[in-house]
Amino acid sequence: MSHVNLFINASKNRDGNTARLAKEYFDGQPYKQVNLVDYDIKQLGQNSESDDFEKVRSEIESAKNIVIGTPVYWSDMTGLLKTFIDRHETVDTRYEGKNVKIIVQGSGPTEGEIAAISHVLEHWTERFSMEYKGVIK
Ligand SMILES: Cc1cc2nc3c(=O)[nH]c(=O)nc-3n(C[C@H](O)[C@H](O)[C@H](O)COP(=O)(O)O)c2cc1C
Repeated sequence: MSHVNLFINASKNRDGNTARLAKEYFDGQPYKQVNLVDYDIKQLGQNSESDDFEKVRSEIESAKNIVIGTPVYWSDMTGLLKTFIDRHETVDTRYEGKNVKIIVQGSGPTEGEIAAISHVLEHWTERFSMEYKGVIK
C-alpha cells in the first residue's frame, strides 16, 4: 500500500524515545512506522533464503517523505540501521526524489557524533538521488 510519510525506526524499542520524537515531528499527520527490529535483514555476505531487506526497501519506494530515526549506540547509528544501509550495494533510481530527514536520539550525543551520523546518511541519500533535508532538531 502506498503511503506518503514513512518513519523508519532503527531503535530496539518500538515505542521508545526515537519513536516519540517521530510522533512529535509528524504532529498528527498520518505516517507509517517501520521498526527495523521487526525485520530480519542479514549482513552483507550472509546469504540466506529468509531475508527481509526487500520488504523494507519497498516501503521506501512506496513513500515520499521519509524520516529515519536512530538512537546513538556507542557514538554511532545503530547496527540495525547500518546493516540496512550497507545492503544497498548497487545504486539505482528507485528512491529518486524522495525527501529524507533524520532523527538522532541519544542520552547526550555530542555535536560530532550527530554530524558523523548525518554525514553517512547524507552520503547514502546523495548516491540514490534523494533530497537530504538534514537532522530534525
Ligand atoms: C548499547 C547502547 C549504547 C549507547 N550509547 C550511547 C552513546 O554513545 N551516546 C549517547 O548519547 N547515548 C547512548 N545510548 C543511549 C541511547 O541512545 C538513548 O537511551 C536513546 O534515547 C534510546 O532511544 P530509544 O528509546 O528509541 O531506544 C546508548 C544506548 C545503548 C542501548
